[in-house]
Amino acid sequence: MSTRLHQLLNDYHSGWSLDQAFYLDENIFSEEWNHIWSKGWLFVGTTAEIPKAGDFFTYTAHKDSIIVIRGNQGEVYAHYNTCRHRGSLICLQERGNTQALMCPYHQWVYDKNGTLLNARLMQEDFDKAEFGLHSAHVQVLEGLIFISLAQDPPDFASVVADYTPFLRPFQLNQAKVAYKASYELRTNWKLVAENFRECYHCGPAHPEYCRAVIGANLREDVDEVLADRRQAWQSKGLATETVEFTETSFHFGVRYPLRPGVQSYSLDGQPASKPMGLHQDYDAGVLGLVVLPGFWMDAVSDYVWTMRVTPLSAERTAIELTWLVDGSAVEGVDYTVERLCSFWKVTGEQDWALCENNFQGIESSRYQPGPYAPAELDVAKFVDWYIGRMNEGVWASVEQVY
Ligand code: FES
Ligand SMILES: [Fe+2]
Repeated sequence: MSTRLHQLLNDYHSGWSLDQAFYLDENIFSEEWNHIWSKGWLFVGTTAEIPKAGDFFTYTAHKDSIIVIRGNQGEVYAHYNTCRHRGSLICLQERGNTQALMCPYHQWVYDKNGTLLNARLMQEDFDKAEFGLHSAHVQVLEGLIFISLAQDPPDFASVVADYTPFLRPFQLNQAKVAYKASYELRTNWKLVAENFRECYHCGPAHPEYCRAVIGANLREDVDEVLADRRQAWQSKGLATETVEFTETSFHFGVRYPLRPGVQSYSLDGQPASKPMGLHQDYDAGVLGLVVLPGFWMDAVSDYVWTMRVTPLSAERTAIELTWLVDGSAVEGVDYTVERLCSFWKVTGEQDWALCENNFQGIESSRYQPGPYAPAELDVAKFVDWYIGRMNEGVWASVEQVY
């Protein structure tokens, strides 16, 4: 660890935005990758994207390309996309279906579960069992696929326990991917996380969002509506217990109400698709779930929207959005992609601009950390969490050296 990072971590002032270096410095980005991204649970996609045995997609996490593939029994594997012969990428496609994974270089063939099946023309005593693909840890939570590149990933049990009751009614495992959109932003990943932790900006920046969500403009009292909706949700068996973020956890979730009369996240407040999974009506409000560092989800009664955030460098961040609808929903009958996606397309693009502008402003020679408003308490908590993980990581590496 550099003395500079040490100093910056020591100088961190809780309640204020971070020093410029935390957003711009590529060496700090590498430390973040080591201490946060390669240690945590990363959302990669949903089982709805790979419904059949052999369906796969690849995900690039910094230097690691990962193949996420369905096995013959419906299980999900995540293999490092590096051949055990001489290291070539094995899978060159972004997604597809295959019976087995064949390396394009010298045609070694691997099973979906990563076992080496065939290595042509190798010596007779060559032991294939020694050369299976390296795999990452996988957790499938109600159809959401998380992987961890860590040797010893953090316990995922509390995420499963807290989120299963919220997710179950959506029946994500039988859902249909209606649309995906990708963006590459010129911003630091933490600015995206910070942006999605506050609604201080919502009033001025998101007229469409504020028309849908009561209280988003910070000028309306939501207590009465919330108490009323909570009772209704509970009577339908929908989970309402807020999952609080603590300094040592990495997930938080909440259900909150739409404005009375608004039925979905759509530009006109009308449904965008048929009620999803076990939902019978359009009264589930909004379910917001987060698993740090890169998973964000907002779900309404008729669709689920996921946001996968992957940092590419200190100044570049990849975003993948996915819209999921009920498995039986038919395009053109129950929904149209245009109607389904317009709300988050508009709102997301407003946010991308804010995140890019924020980054560019931070590049100024006169940038200095500024104080968070009371409405930005959750941003402060996120930044405290970030500094906590970085401190933990850098001190653990110091201990390893001595
Ligand atoms: S590098 Fe894959 S078969 Fe040779
Ligand atoms: Fe926003």
